Amino acid sequence: MNEQAPVTEAPVKAVPTLPDAATVLSVKHWTDRLFSFRVERPQSLRFRSGEFVMIGLMGDPDPKTGKVKPLLRAYSIASPNWDQELEFYSIKVPDGPLTSRLQHIQPGDQIILRPKPVGTLVVDALLPGKRLWMFATGTGIAPFASLMRDPEVYEKFDEVILMHTCREVGELEYGRQLIEHIKSDEILSEIEGGKLRYYPTTTREEYHHMGRVTDNLKSGKVFTDLGIDPIDPEHDRAMVCGNLGFNKDIMAILNDFGLREGANSEPREYVVEKAFVD
Ligand code: A2P
Repeated sequence: MNEQAPVTEAPVKAVPTLPDAATVLSVKHWTDRLFSFRVERPQSLRFRSGEFVMIGLMGDPDPKTGKVKPLLRAYSIASPNWDQELEFYSIKVPDGPLTSRLQHIQPGDQIILRPKPVGTLVVDALLPGKRLWMFATGTGIAPFASLMRDPEVYEKFDEVILMHTCREVGELEYGRQLIEHIKSDEILSEIEGGKLRYYPTTTREEYHHMGRVTDNLKSGKVFTDLGIDPIDPEHDRAMVCGNLGFNKDIMAILNDFGLREGANSEPREYVVEKAFVD
């Protein structure tokens, strides 16, 4: 209920006063550092699974001019392109201008959503292949949460492997529950058709798979654990989304395996996107 509304007026639900506003439908806090939320999808918004949009909130008034500017950041859309709602997965950056406020949103609140999706983590930017690797750290799993629910991914690849590395076990929970949902949901499990494999690791807390994915690739542990052949440029394709250091290190490994970085304009064997933070 609008706190400013006169008591005689009926409660007003979510009046769209912001430019490009989207109403928040639900919020879930996964750890003290991570949360996800779903918003209404603008009817005109079309996107390819894996793309990102700019979202945010109105900032504080400028102390000199009194003008209020929007505070916007790039966020991967974590829901697939057929979903009627949009999902986002975010870190709570301590003192981050946007996330320190965004983490407090509630159902019925509005966020700003610029409906111009872009990005390179799309199937179109890869050459045809047999096996698709998704390499993520932390909130870098967001674009893959979208892609893992997109039928096109399973039409184009025989095997899809999500590799997710986080510091602690609790930070894997969003991805773990999503995989569990995909595997148990009647429609999603049919779309996935047993092609999706999941290899989570932690680096700072005890877990059944541990270590940086980069180290586990170099040592060959990943291939042994999954019982598969090493990466080869003829059949393997990859998408990478993590922090800058991770992206750089994975790219070097993929290059060593003979894969080349592609783009929308020039599809090749792998594509990379920075996981967006405040
Ligand atoms: P580590 O704990 O060894 O730093 P962050 O929260 O800092 O973004 O990191 C998320 C996860 O990504 C952590 O498990 C972290 O491992 C891992 N990581 C960070 N940098 C790299 C890198 N350059 N190569 C591989 N893994 C990395």
